[in-house]
Amino acid sequence: MGDPRQGLALRSRNWFDRDDLDGFLHRSWTKTEGFTDRAYKGRPVIGICNTWSELVNCNTHLRELADAVRRGVLQAGGFPLEFPVMSLGEPLMKPTTMLYRNLMAMDVEESIRAYPLDGVVLLTGCDKTNPASIMGAASANVPAIVVTGGPMLNGRWRNESLGSCTDCWRYYEELRAGRIDESEWRELEGSISRSHGHCMTMGTASTMACVTEGLGMTLPGGAAIPAVDSRRKQLAERAGTAIVELVERDIRPHDILVPKAFDNAIRVLHAISGSTNAILHLLAIAGRVGVTLSLDRFDELARTTPWLVNLKPAGTYLMEDFFYAGGVPAVMSEISELLHLDALTVSGRTVAENISGARIVDPKVISPAAEPLGPDGSLAVLRGNLCPDGAVIKYSAADPRLLHHEGPAVVFDSIEDLVARVDSPDLDVSPDSVLVLQNAGPVGAPGMPEWGHLPIPSKLLRAGVTDMLRISDARMSGTSYGAVVLHVAPESAVGGPLALVRDGDRIRIDLDARRLDLLVDDAELAARRAAWRPPPRKDERGYRRLYEDHVLQADRGCDLDFLQGTSPVVTESHTYG
Ligand code: FES
Repeated sequence: MGDPRQGLALRSRNWFDRDDLDGFLHRSWTKTEGFTDRAYKGRPVIGICNTWSELVNCNTHLRELADAVRRGVLQAGGFPLEFPVMSLGEPLMKPTTMLYRNLMAMDVEESIRAYPLDGVVLLTGCDKTNPASIMGAASANVPAIVVTGGPMLNGRWRNESLGSCTDCWRYYEELRAGRIDESEWRELEGSISRSHGHCMTMGTASTMACVTEGLGMTLPGGAAIPAVDSRRKQLAERAGTAIVELVERDIRPHDILVPKAFDNAIRVLHAISGSTNAILHLLAIAGRVGVTLSLDRFDELARTTPWLVNLKPAGTYLMEDFFYAGGVPAVMSEISELLHLDALTVSGRTVAENISGARIVDPKVISPAAEPLGPDGSLAVLRGNLCPDGAVIKYSAADPRLLHHEGPAVVFDSIEDLVARVDSPDLDVSPDSVLVLQNAGPVGAPGMPEWGHLPIPSKLLRAGVTDMLRISDARMSGTSYGAVVLHVAPESAVGGPLALVRDGDRIRIDLDARRLDLLVDDAELAARRAAWRPPPRKDERGYRRLYEDHVLQADRGCDLDFLQGTSPVVTESHTYG
């Protein structure tokens, strides 16, 4: 066998192999980093696209993972170069990371496009860093592999396993109801998050890690390995060798991200009872590669995919348990009859080859398909006069009584209004009320924050109410739970029917019929629509202005309209002559 790189059309050679002034300068300045010609001569240049940041606690170990990737790249004969991109951290970034997902995707895409990279390993962790990286790499379309940072170890407090942040929300309600005190609340603060890694419930980061494995964009078994387990570094090292092989075989994101891959990913999403946020991200990724994907596809596949994974917030266990139980390969093996087994993945092999031999180790955590936790998936897409372009509910995490329900609306017209009034003793609310939040969508907030998990009014909490029907055009943290209808489209700030709801209006949800309706007659709605005026624009300049002018609605994944699709990467460049 000869050198597999012989004859490879590496784009980096246009930077390093040329004989003109540009070539001289590219080589000369690379030498300032201490590299000899041998470091890159004839080798594919592999970018290690790192979302490490001390502002993003979930990603602070990614420099160490980058070192492991680097080892793998060198072993396979590549030339690794690590570079930073914008990072997005759920806890500290305001008003919401979702506002910046598309900006980060632009950073990833343009960094890949502008530099001499033949392939890229994407190091991701906290929620939006994963889809933003995939969106950017998909639009750049050079060979790419994702390595996620892995989940934190299980939280632990008073002999109880705790998950961030499902148990943060639960104990906060205990605090508001007076069932724990301030000192216990402080103790929890130090016990729930106790290692490197992303949230270890089946929240958005864990969901996106699993869905990325379902898409075929990360190596098999990679999603669930705890962040601090040595096997995660081994995974990263293997990704370093695998990306060189992908470059040699010229396997690109567009070869992986085909309709079959999205079906597989959606099946995984339902089987794990994953976060509603994954719907937005998959829609946005599909838009980058020209795959037609609609909200309805999520609902169709939900109806025939069993719910198997018993993790919080819908279930009991945490990601560390999921890893020991077999992780995503075990889940995919269990639903293999529903998958496109011939789909190609970044391992260079098919799904069938990847999951061969995988099995469930602990059926308490991953149920066999013959005994599922639920006969169908856990997410549903609703339609009706309140959400003509769709809305989403994670019904596995809801009180079943509220899934076929009718009640009077209690309307909050902004997050400020909600915060000011929700705990007021004068609020006219009962357990049957339907809490409605307006102006919390992509344009209205802006950025579609995770405000959709509206707090239960404290006077009802104290009376023992644990769930209520809540509706908004916002998102919800993947770690949250409850009868929460999200992603209502079109949103209220652009004139969607949600904007027309008033206190006391009757609202009806019928999960079986997949309906969400405002029981107000058409003439009255027409009168309200005629009187409706859009809220004032929030931002007049900068990225936020661009975002508000171009963001797509939730049913299309909230990408910016002009970012959909792909542009060719540079192969010829002349800077100096
Ligand atoms: Fe980063 Fe939850 S805060 S994944």
